Amino acid sequence: MSDNGSIYYCRPVFRPPSEAHSLLIQLTEGCTFKCDFCMSNLRKEFKVRDIKKVKQDLDAARTQYGPSVSRIFFLDGNAMVTPAEKLIEVTKYANDLFPNLERCGVYAHSKDIIKKTDEQLRALSEAGLKIAYIGFESGYNKLLQQVHKHAVKEDHIKASKKLFEADITLSATLINGLGGANHPELSRKHAIESADLVNKICPDDDRTWYIAFLSLMVPPGTEIFKQKQQGEFKEMPSDQILKELKTFIEHINFQNKNAHCVFRSNHASNYLPIKGVLEQDKKKILDVIEYGLTHRETLRPEGYRGL
Ligand SMILES: C[S@@+](CC[C@H](N)C(=O)[O-])C[C@H]1O[C@@H](n2cnc3c(N)ncnc32)[C@H](O)[C@@H]1O
Ligand code: SF4
Repeated sequence: MSDNGSIYYCRPVFRPPSEAHSLLIQLTEGCTFKCDFCMSNLRKEFKVRDIKKVKQDLDAARTQYGPSVSRIFFLDGNAMVTPAEKLIEVTKYANDLFPNLERCGVYAHSKDIIKKTDEQLRALSEAGLKIAYIGFESGYNKLLQQVHKHAVKEDHIKASKKLFEADITLSATLINGLGGANHPELSRKHAIESADLVNKICPDDDRTWYIAFLSLMVPPGTEIFKQKQQGEFKEMPSDQILKELKTFIEHINFQNKNAHCVFRSNHASNYLPIKGVLEQDKKKILDVIEYGLTHRETLRPEGYRGL
């Protein structure tokens, strides 16, 4: 809490679009990683905040918004890195303050999840941490290494399975155009390996989980921005982006035909809004992509894209 009794934020803050109406609570600041494309940790030194202060922010929110808060998102870039006992403590505290709380959520790097034991993840889930947002970015290890993700496909698989096992909902993002323009083989491998990653994590029940594609933006200050300025990186044009997405969708093939994977590519960074359930809506999604490829005037104009 700030000295004036208001809720503390270390700005700018980033949260998933689906947490737009959630109470945002600053648990960590910055991120322990530094991926080439991401601006989450620019100008922020990483820290886990003092838990006493986080609790004071929750108290302030209770005074400000009353008891009816239903969703909380713990900021910042990878709040899942917070030691398990602290994360459990604030989650329990939030549940005591807000009796109608349906879920707490965090951003998580796959390695943050892998480092937690199954018992810790189960305890987190029981305390009320019910959704984790992982940035897969790709299933292609060469590309993951290139952008300094510090995780490989096998880490993403392991982390996802641990979340499912603990009954924490998975919401994962991948990035269209991550390898840049004029690398057709890299783009194809990115699409196919990403589809293979998603196929491999598909649970064998009908729970809901989420996969979303964003399209690469090149924010000032990031490593990829510097590469672009030096002529080492060129952004992928919209037609190549859509073809890459098409290859991804074509290669989705779940063994579990009752899977309920909500697929979205309707973020502000995307050229074409797409929504569906994989893999039952595969044909519908491919038709939308084909329409976008043949009706370029329907694509979101470059200047309207954002993060
Ligand atoms: C704030 S990050 C948090 C994710 C989490 N820390 C992790 O790495 O697993 C949220 C996601 O936004 C997406 N993102 C970040 N920068 C982006 C960019 N420049 N262009 C497109 N998507 C981006 C990535 O998918 C990233 O994982
Ligand atoms: S993508 Fe995630 S792990 Fe990478 S720098 Fe951004 S917040 Fe950190």
